Amino acid sequence: MAHTPGLPGLSTAEQAALTSGSDFWHSTPIESAGVPAITLTDGPHGVRLQANRDDMLTGRPATCFPPAVATGSTWDPELLRRMGEALGDECRAMDVAVLLGPGINLKRSPLGGRDFEYFSEDPVLTGILATAWVRGLQSRGVGASLKHFAVNSQETDRMRVSADVDERTLRELYLRAFQRVVTQAQPWTVMCAYNRLNGVYASQNRWLLTDVLRGEWAFEGLVVSDWGAVADRVAAVAAGLDLTMPGPADAGDRALVDAVGDGRLDPALLRTAADRVRALVGRAPARPAGGYDAEAHHELAREIAGRAIVLLKNEGGVLPLAAADGARSIAVIGEFARTPRYQGGGSSLITPTRLDDALTEIIAATEAEVSFSPGYLTGDTAAQEGVGKQDEGAEDQDLLAEAVALAQASDVALVFVGSTSETEGADREGIDLPAAHLELIERVAAANPRTVVVLSNGGVLGTRPWEARVPAILEGWLLGQAGGSAIADVLFGVVNPSGRLAETIPLKLSDHPSYLDFPGENGHVRYGEGIYVGYRGFDAREQEVAYPFGFGLSYTTFEYGQASAVATIDGIELRVPVTNAGGRDGREVVQVYVSLPGSAVGRAPRELKAFANVAIAAGETVEVALSVDRSDLAYWETRLGRWVVEGGDYHCAVGASSRDLRTTAVVTVPGDDARIPLTPDSTVAEWLADPRGAKLLTEAFAAATAGGDAPPILAMLADPSLMEFIGSFPLGRMAAFGTALPPETLQKLLAAAND
Ligand code: BGC
Repeated sequence: MAHTPGLPGLSTAEQAALTSGSDFWHSTPIESAGVPAITLTDGPHGVRLQANRDDMLTGRPATCFPPAVATGSTWDPELLRRMGEALGDECRAMDVAVLLGPGINLKRSPLGGRDFEYFSEDPVLTGILATAWVRGLQSRGVGASLKHFAVNSQETDRMRVSADVDERTLRELYLRAFQRVVTQAQPWTVMCAYNRLNGVYASQNRWLLTDVLRGEWAFEGLVVSDWGAVADRVAAVAAGLDLTMPGPADAGDRALVDAVGDGRLDPALLRTAADRVRALVGRAPARPAGGYDAEAHHELAREIAGRAIVLLKNEGGVLPLAAADGARSIAVIGEFARTPRYQGGGSSLITPTRLDDALTEIIAATEAEVSFSPGYLTGDTAAQEGVGKQDEGAEDQDLLAEAVALAQASDVALVFVGSTSETEGADREGIDLPAAHLELIERVAAANPRTVVVLSNGGVLGTRPWEARVPAILEGWLLGQAGGSAIADVLFGVVNPSGRLAETIPLKLSDHPSYLDFPGENGHVRYGEGIYVGYRGFDAREQEVAYPFGFGLSYTTFEYGQASAVATIDGIELRVPVTNAGGRDGREVVQVYVSLPGSAVGRAPRELKAFANVAIAAGETVEVALSVDRSDLAYWETRLGRWVVEGGDYHCAVGASSRDLRTTAVVTVPGDDARIPLTPDSTVAEWLADPRGAKLLTEAFAAATAGGDAPPILAMLADPSLMEFIGSFPLGRMAAFGTALPPETLQKLLAAAND
């Protein structure tokens, strides 16, 4: 990273001051040295620049783009890049130097309170989308803050809990997307998480912040703390944390000066941290207040939202409505149609520049007669109407009766339901719709067979048993400020849905791989499902799910030809012809899931390794090209402490979801050289499986038994049933069985085997 030239040296106290904020959203200026302050603010799906001093959470108006739960479902890095650019333009207009996003923690459990801020349960999908977002943002001269590093996949006890994760799981799942974004997009900053990782706070975890992030991934930017994540400034700076937020943090600054003074902290570490802050400031010159095209950004928010909606069910072609004959009257039911749920609570809460609601947009989009009934009370409507808690039940029943009558009198009923809140700071209690919403669906569906459910939710919602009662379901997530118009676009076929699930919808919560180990207790959460996160776990256990990872319908249908694949030095190149076999233009998300039958290590039955989002005109065939990075084929070899690509025949299954695989290409990939050194603890079978070890061991046994006293060990090893028995003995312990392998011989064998 370029350092700002010509800055004079700073005193220890000035260096310490630079490494903490001056207030909630600014770095500390050092005027004597010509270092100005910069603004860092949330993020991630809009710019939340605090509007007035006394209200930390309310921002100036800015475009509220769809949160990551929605953008994750677009499976389209190009859209994410454009969103990043637009956010960069808004940051420039507000003189924001660093936007605090993207949030790329894995959705480990459907109960995760911030799942709405994260993209997916899969690290490849997460990493590809976030890389595009960061590139887009930073192309505008505004820095990203990749967060929350790392393993911040729950809100319960988030500021203390230790995420206890084995290293292979960490590397392959929870760090994988961070690694991709850091190495491919070099975000200006990385934000450390609140939680501890295997017992050590992320904010003072040298292994994480220095050894892995900088040493292995060559990160060149600055590490900023999550707001309030630093428990011990000295330990944090020693671990590689550069900027502590928020400020002022005078006591911490003094602690740093004292620690340098009495030799507890290497002054070079503090200087490095201060230099990184200076370098960050130098990258972000102050900009005059400007403007941006709010109308164009709203349209972009609408386009992204439309592409995020997932059509879960569409029996009998109920949708799109324009094509449905006889839809002369439409009942719009559910308060969420009028009062949209479009973002979650907490630090990402944006004050939108405007807000579309589905009801108004539906009325504008059709000549059919549209009528509305709220169907249920929300917390807000109850408060507005002065309905007390004790009266809510009766009021709900009245609204229900009104909604049912409306549905009965209309050709089509659109029912808007969903979760009532998701917020940073708290995990969810379950995945069921609220009881009033469930009852509304049941009753409306009984009154009108052409009932379409439109869901609004930031975390996954269960769909059983109600889904069987309705012919069509749109998963509308939290779609940002233009969600209402985007929903109308999909309902009327202006947009042909192409969103795909970035997370599995389970039949029930207790099926989920994380279920027994979420959210932990007594300060620890054990990531007991290991590498079997999300669909990996459902597939490994051959469990039925409600809707699989990668799933989503379209108003057209796609057919796949035979896939072909070749191995290259960079990985695997695939081609597959895909035909739009229906009568409408559409987009298909072509997904590649890879497996290696007979792998030497445990693996999920299939893992997403590549995807392509392609527009295909009705009747056309497109030859889709996809690349799998060789690095994405690697697993983390714990015995060597590094990534290894195992050689073998990789099966690349290509299709429309993780459970709708249409064609497979098998390709032989050469493996890395990854010999595991033999040790006294290596078993007899492991020695014999290693070509050099086998030769040496056989020779040693032959020599040892030549005299006739020792047991005929070679003959024993040649007997398959005896080999099953002896094979699991560590060689070092064979001496106890009189096999004439004394310690000196063993030492010689080891030296020769590992030479
Ligand atoms: C959140 C971060 C956010 C920061 C600043 C924290 O509570 O975890 O995601 O960027 O606050 O608002």
